[in-house]
Amino acid sequence: MDFEGKIGFVTGGSRGIGREIALQMAKRGAAVAIVSRGKDDAERVASEIESLGVKARGYACDVSSIDEASRVAQSAIEDLGTPDFLVNNAGIVRDKLILRMTPEDWNQVIATNLTGVYNFVRVFSPHFIKKRSGRIVNISSVIGLVGNAGQTSYAASKAGVIGLTKSLAKEFAPRGITVNAVAPGYIATAMTNDLGEEIQTKMLEMIPLRRFGTVEDVANVVIFLLSGMADYLTGHVINCDGGMVMG
Ligand SMILES: NC(=O)c1ccc[n+]([C@@H]2O[C@H](COP(=O)([O-])OP(=O)(O)OC[C@H]3O[C@@H](n4cnc5c(N)ncnc54)[C@H](O)[C@@H]3O)[C@@H](O)[C@H]2O)c1
Repeated sequence: MDFEGKIGFVTGGSRGIGREIALQMAKRGAAVAIVSRGKDDAERVASEIESLGVKARGYACDVSSIDEASRVAQSAIEDLGTPDFLVNNAGIVRDKLILRMTPEDWNQVIATNLTGVYNFVRVFSPHFIKKRSGRIVNISSVIGLVGNAGQTSYAASKAGVIGLTKSLAKEFAPRGITVNAVAPGYIATAMTNDLGEEIQTKMLEMIPLRRFGTVEDVANVVIFLLSGMADYLTGHVINCDGGMVMG
C-alpha cells in the first residue's frame, strides 16, 4: 500500500471520516487535496497533512455546485497534478419526519450527498479516462441499504450513491478505472455525537461487534480499495458497520 507519487482528492476532508482518509493517504506518501465548506478548516487540515512530509492543499467549496467543483478541480490539478484517487465523502444530515421535511431540507441533502458525488465524478472523469486509470470511492451509508424512520432524504441520497457507484463501475471498467462504495454504520464523529444517550444505547445493541466504529475503521477500508490489493474489485459496496447489516 505504497502511495508514493500518487495524488488523492477527498471531499469533506476537514474533519471526521474524510480527514482521517486524507491523513491515511498522506501517511502512505500520497499528495492530497481536500475540500470542505470552510476555507480555514480545509487549510488547517492541509497544513497538518504537509507536516507528514507530503504536498497538500485545502480548498473551500460547496460540493453541490458544479461550477465550484469545476473551479476547485482545476486548482488542484494546477497545484498538485491530476488525481489518481477521488474519494467522495462530503455529506450532511437534515433528519426529519416526512411531514416536517421542507423542500429545502430535502433538496439540500440530495444536492450535497448525491449531486455532490456526480459533480466531482463529472469534473475528474475526463482526466481519469485520458490516463486510463483511477480509483473512485464513494462514501454511502448502511442507511442507504436498509432505510431509517426520519431519514428519508439521507437514505435516498445514500441509496442513490450506491446506484451511481454500480452504474459508473460498469461504465468505467473498460477504461481501467474502478468505482466502489463504502457504507459505514454507526461511526463516532461530529455527525453522530449529537444523538442522545438513549439512541446510542439502542444502536449498540444492534451492532454484533458491540462497539461503535471509528474513523480509522472506515479509512482502513477506503485505503484498501484505493490500493493495488483491490485491483480486481469494482462496483462493490463494503459495509463497515461491525456486522450491523449483513448480506
Ligand atoms: N458518522 C457516521 O456515523 C456515518 C455513518 C454513515 C455514513 N457516513 C458518511 O460519511 C461521510 C462523512 O461523515 P462524517 O461523520 O465524517 O461527517 P462530518 O459532519 O464530521 O464531516 C462532513 C464533512 O463534509 C463537509 N461538507 C458537508 N457539506 C459540504 C458541502 N456542501 N460542500 C463541501 N463540503 C461539505 C464538511 O465541511 C466536513 O468536512 C458522510 O458522507 C456521511 O454521510 C457517516
